[in-house]
Amino acid sequence: MDFDKIDLYIKGLYEKKEGIKKKEYISRTQLKDFIPVIDDDVARMLKLMIRITKSKRILEIGTSIGYSTTSMARIVKEYGGKITTIEYDKKVAAQAKQNFINAGLEKYIELKIGDAREIIPNIKDKFDLIFQDVDKKLYPELFEHCLKVLKTGGLLIAEDTLFPVLELEAKWSELIEPVDEFNKLVINCSKLESSLIPIGDGVIIAVKK
Ligand SMILES: C[S@@+](CC[C@H](N)C(=O)[O-])C[C@H]1O[C@@H](n2cnc3c(N)ncnc32)[C@H](O)[C@@H]1O
Repeated sequence: MDFDKIDLYIKGLYEKKEGIKKKEYISRTQLKDFIPVIDDDVARMLKLMIRITKSKRILEIGTSIGYSTTSMARIVKEYGGKITTIEYDKKVAAQAKQNFINAGLEKYIELKIGDAREIIPNIKDKFDLIFQDVDKKLYPELFEHCLKVLKTGGLLIAEDTLFPVLELEAKWSELIEPVDEFNKLVINCSKLESSLIPIGDGVIIAVKK
């Protein structure tokens, strides 16, 4: 399969569809130095998953400038839900907050500024959907914590799970092993039913049985 051709075809199909796309979101964002955000196809998939499951409580790990958060919040607000999102870089968090306000979505989003490794073990809530998009080195370490705060029937969705087979720049090579370890944790976990889907940089979707 020619994935570049497939990607172009899909992009073309969705080009004229309403809604803010990644390129426009980034161009409206003042801060230019941030970790890359999800692709439009992953944003569409997240929105679809929220609609299918009517998820009300969402946990996102890794906010950056808030593109994925904003995409999800547009749907979550229809169900009276809320997103808790975690970011430890104060500068990008401030930009994300501003973007949420600009989009009129701030009341549907709780932004927690700090290290996900300290915040998640202290969360008392349970979530319908967890979107994992933090530093890839932390995926394995946070796996069990995510399982604990995920409701039965809830979804765990993680981005960049095809890093082990993508042609990555040398600076990202240290992320291959933890992502591979995380994929194996998800796939071999008896509490989860999962599938790894080749969109974006690879998205694994798992439901807690
Ligand atoms: C890939 S970006 C998130 C992109 C965002 N989900 C989107 O698509 O719009 C990952 C973010 O995780 C943040 N991060 C890395 N390690 C973290 C940690 N230990 N706790 C909280 N946030 C962290 C980084 O600062 C970065 O902004």
